[in-house]
Amino acid sequence: MSKHTRAVIGIDIGTSGTKTAIFDEIGNLLASHTAEYPMLQPQNGWAEQNPEDWWQASIEGLKVVLAKVSDTIEVVAIGLSGQMHGLVMLDETGCVLRPSIIWCDQRTEREVEQMKRMVGEEKLIRITANPAMTGFTAAKILWVQNNEPDVYAKCRHILLPKDYIRYRLTGEFATEVSDASGMQLMDVGARDWSSEILSLLNIDRTLLAKMYESPEITGTVHATAAAESGLPIGIPVVGGAGDNPAAAVGTGVVSEGRAFTTIGSSAVIYTVSDTVKIDLKGRVHALCASAPGKWTVMSCTQGAGLSLKWFRDNFCSEEIAEAEKRGIDPYILMTAMAEKIPVGSDRLLFLPYLMGERSPHPDPDCRGLFFGLSAIHTRANLIRSVLEGVTFSQLECLNVFREMGVPVQDMVITGGGAKSPFWMQMLADLYGVPVRKMTTDEGAAQGAALLAAVGAGIYPSVQDACATVMKRDEALFPNPEAGKAYAPYFELYKQLYRKLIEEYKTLAKI
Ligand code: XUL
Repeated sequence: MSKHTRAVIGIDIGTSGTKTAIFDEIGNLLASHTAEYPMLQPQNGWAEQNPEDWWQASIEGLKVVLAKVSDTIEVVAIGLSGQMHGLVMLDETGCVLRPSIIWCDQRTEREVEQMKRMVGEEKLIRITANPAMTGFTAAKILWVQNNEPDVYAKCRHILLPKDYIRYRLTGEFATEVSDASGMQLMDVGARDWSSEILSLLNIDRTLLAKMYESPEITGTVHATAAAESGLPIGIPVVGGAGDNPAAAVGTGVVSEGRAFTTIGSSAVIYTVSDTVKIDLKGRVHALCASAPGKWTVMSCTQGAGLSLKWFRDNFCSEEIAEAEKRGIDPYILMTAMAEKIPVGSDRLLFLPYLMGERSPHPDPDCRGLFFGLSAIHTRANLIRSVLEGVTFSQLECLNVFREMGVPVQDMVITGGGAKSPFWMQMLADLYGVPVRKMTTDEGAAQGAALLAAVGAGIYPSVQDACATVMKRDEALFPNPEAGKAYAPYFELYKQLYRKLIEEYKTLAKI
């Protein structure tokens, strides 16, 4: 490798940790490091993190990856990505005023009602492209206005998690369209802050960061950050993207027709469209994509891999012990058991609403369900039924996209779910489209790094960068016979939630 191999860095501020990864200009991973930190839950349903933890994790990651490659490469740009919707508030000296209220915090049910009254439901959806959401940033800002007026009075800057790291690296208060559209303060069609929404919600525009497109340069690394991290002074930092829009770049999902499903704790289906497409029923989110001039329709279900993990932790001690003996992942044993059970799990259905739901049923009160339990069922049936229920919930979301006219021709699968060929095939059979994995899957950090490569002028566009760098595995094709066999179960699955809406509300009140 020559002394001046150009390289780009992606920093992804996740919920469990920050991943820092450095790539050469054709996308080969040179080094990566993940530094973890806690999520604080001061009350049931609350979720907070300390922005200083993100910064320390970023510094640690930068130091480690730079030490691994130091004199062989020249870093030409940095891209940031991160957990979306989190609220960071700074005072006039740039100090953090309170812990960040992060994406999965559910304290803002009252503020959601307040937003609907202040703006009007129809107007809110028309301008921000989404119904009032407990998880989005606007409701969190109102919560601080309502509950911590002293903090709000001192607040001079409102930032998203990754944009706080930008501030620490460059001193700039900047954001970009993909993450900012998850704040519910933008005119998503116009790709800028909405003066109308801000004035109706009494939020001063001067509190908000300057808006950029994702590959644009937003500032350069200043001397203090350079001294702390080991980066040279003056490296450009591009806008970057929220973690899902960044993963879209990292999976080459940057033009209409392309989509990815990521199955982690939650599951996201992310599609790209040439125009802003809003679901008036609020079943899926519309956001600006990180590729300039594109938008996205995205679903987010709360309990995907989380449902399987819940089942593993509570009912699979035998499989956990056996897996430990054999030095393998317990999920391998669990999915092998499920594979032996027929489609429909011998007439057993699972609703995966262990954490309430967001897409396609924005409902904090619904909960999980096994339906049809019989004395013939074994643990293997239950495992298969959990996998099927989570996959049905993704299909229900995908069908919303289809109803909205968002084309999906092929689907990349990422996250933990992509590790199981059995689950991948189930996704293909139910979606009815070919599915495939990335050959190397570095997720959002790679997407952020590619946006940096575009900002640095290595590639003329995000689409060009993806075409050069991204490699996908061979596709798994849907089996139409299996698709037919699933159909009656899926029909019943859809009816169950609808029939239980009122009962869920009653349960929540007990
Ligand atoms: C997306 C969302 C999550 C977070 C987690 O709307 O809330 O995917 O971005 O990192």
